[in-house]
Amino acid sequence: MTADHPVTDTAIIGSGFIGRAWAISFARAGARVRLWDQAADQTAGALAYIGGVLEDLARNDLLNGKTPKSVLSLISVASSMAEALAEATYVQENTPEVLATKIKVFEALDGAARADAILASSTSALLPSRFTENLKGRGRCVVVHPINPPYLIPAAEIVPSPWTSPETVERARRFLVSAGHAPLVMKRELDGFIMNRMQGALLEEAFRLVADGYASVEDIDIGIRDGLALRWSFMGPFETMDLNAPGGVRDYAQRYQGIYENLFAQMQRRVDWSGEVMGRVEAERRALLPTEHLQQRQVWRDKRLMALLAHKRGQAKGELG
Ligand SMILES: NC(=O)c1ccc[n+]([C@@H]2O[C@H](COP(=O)([O-])OP(=O)(O)OC[C@H]3O[C@@H](n4cnc5c(N)ncnc54)[C@H](O)[C@@H]3O)[C@@H](O)[C@H]2O)c1
Repeated sequence: MTADHPVTDTAIIGSGFIGRAWAISFARAGARVRLWDQAADQTAGALAYIGGVLEDLARNDLLNGKTPKSVLSLISVASSMAEALAEATYVQENTPEVLATKIKVFEALDGAARADAILASSTSALLPSRFTENLKGRGRCVVVHPINPPYLIPAAEIVPSPWTSPETVERARRFLVSAGHAPLVMKRELDGFIMNRMQGALLEEAFRLVADGYASVEDIDIGIRDGLALRWSFMGPFETMDLNAPGGVRDYAQRYQGIYENLFAQMQRRVDWSGEVMGRVEAERRALLPTEHLQQRQVWRDKRLMALLAHKRGQAKGELG
């Protein structure tokens, strides 16, 4: 298979939160999906979940013009790992975030998958070199880390180990693009990849502001939700800089770096997120949203995300037209 050869058959190994969500994304793009999970009841739950989500996606015009039934017809449950892998040229592993499990599962995948299959892991934080080093096919192993749920959030991080072949990275990138994703390709592996490092920097500062008594939890959320994130939903920090000074990104740095320089020295002290500050954070959040409403609010979040994605797609079509 060449880098140009489209992926038509995929396998999903582990069908929990992330595995079932990838299945929607791949099948929506027209690929066949075989689900396998070591707990058989999980795949039944996954199919029921997928059926419900496909209806919501269709209502928001997020199925590329396909019907829920036609997308669902591409997804089937395999009764063994070998059966799931038989035709797959792209395998997405979604087992629990435990190093020993990843090592075991990747060993099995490398032994049983087709020679031309990419083996991708959804791991949130394990470096690919930690669970692929001793595999014969380590060159075809790579991390493809989604943001949950991948059928609504296009970005996915492609993270190569030192021995991942450039062809594997390129084929994974092409497949993701063909499935409507927006891959970020790391040049080499690093703890936290890209997005968790960016998010971690923001969360650490949010906790520090609350811990030091400068702001409420809700005011910080307003600053992002009704402030910075309005732009961030369609452009990143570098483009924001580039457009915020008449002469572009260098002009911005010359004008404003001084403001930030003084801050970074104040941002070095670590905050224990689950220490004393959590008492305040939790009390504020629970006053705004009682525990019994958490699940209902998660449904609301996913509906808002769908509406935002539909809006962004509409805007992108308008720009092209
Ligand atoms: N949940 C998230 O928001 C999120 C986001 C990005 C990445 N991830 C990553 O995705 C991976 C899966 O996370 P999740 O949230 O879907 O977990 P989950 O607990 O919902 O699902 C894990 C599934 O793996 C199955 N499983 C366990 N051992 C297995 C094995 N040996 N072979 C086959 N199946 C096995 C379990 O039965 C379960 O269905 C983790 O590496 C996680 O870090 C999760």
